[in-house]
Amino acid sequence: MPGKISQGSECPECHGTGWVYWRDAEGIEYGRRCECGLVERQIMERKLSFANIPEAFADMELNTFCLDVYRKEDSRKTIRQACAAVKYYLDNLEDMKAAGMGLYLYSDTKGSGKTRMAASIANELIRRYRMQVRFSGSMRIVQEIKATWDDRDRKESDLLDALATVEVLVIDDFGTELPKDWIGERFYSIINSRYQDKLITIFTSNLSLEALQYDDRITNRIKERTFQLPFPEESVRERIAEKNRKDLIEGIKRGR
Ligand SMILES: Nc1ncnc2c1ncn2[C@@H]1O[C@H](COP(=O)(O)OP(=O)(O)OP(=O)(O)O)[C@@H](O)[C@H]1O
Ligand SMILES: [Mg+2]
Ligand SMILES: [Zn+2]
Repeated sequence: MPGKISQGSECPECHGTGWVYWRDAEGIEYGRRCECGLVERQIMERKLSFANIPEAFADMELNTFCLDVYRKEDSRKTIRQACAAVKYYLDNLEDMKAAGMGLYLYSDTKGSGKTRMAASIANELIRRYRMQVRFSGSMRIVQEIKATWDDRDRKESDLLDALATVEVLVIDDFGTELPKDWIGERFYSIINSRYQDKLITIFTSNLSLEALQYDDRITNRIKERTFQLPFPEESVRERIAEKNRKDLIEGIKRGR
């Protein structure tokens, strides 16, 4: 039974191997995954570590995404709509998968919760739907590509292939990289490949699709294959910083 074994203690069935073996009357050996679920947990851990979700957001879940951190009425309306859309998206994931539909989360304002939401969705896709997800910052993709140029052991084409073929790709902060020609070409090749294979791509950005500085070969494909979800023009990061300041002052007062 999954979860039967508490962490640290060894399962008496499989003795921590995850597999149970037995022989039939003819002495032929069979094996199956143990019911303690160790193998499934190991697969999940590998998927989570492969996904590379930033440390601060690694355990984020959709149900801890608060709506009341936004103060402006406008923001609350926007975030309610975004959350409803995300819920609909996840509840209909099979259809989304078949159509290769992803998401494009954007707001001008920094700190509005886009990365947190994208990470929560990524976690949900891995844990609930057992999908293979890779989370990467846009700048980081650019740096990784550059790094292959003078590394004999890593080929640029392998990296581009990996990004083009992973089941779900999350590109955080799309559009912050300089729109140089070579960068546009690389993103075009990744995005076009994923477009042709109908693979899900989730973007966060400080720019609307219209404001992105890429040519329309890229933006048209994103437009066709994502739901664009505006995020509130309000910074939760500011709010948190404010609250931390207040808490600190309160703490100092109490300590006196
Ligand atoms: N709905 C929320 N509930 C609780 N905390 C939140 C929420 N939204 C954002 N936060 C917190 O606010 C901070 C900023 O959020 P996040 O990094 O997701 O913003 P962002 O929109 O990606 O910003 P940027 O445009 O700079 O990339 C983070 O610490 C995040 O955990
Ligand atoms: Mg962000
Ligand atoms: Zn076991």
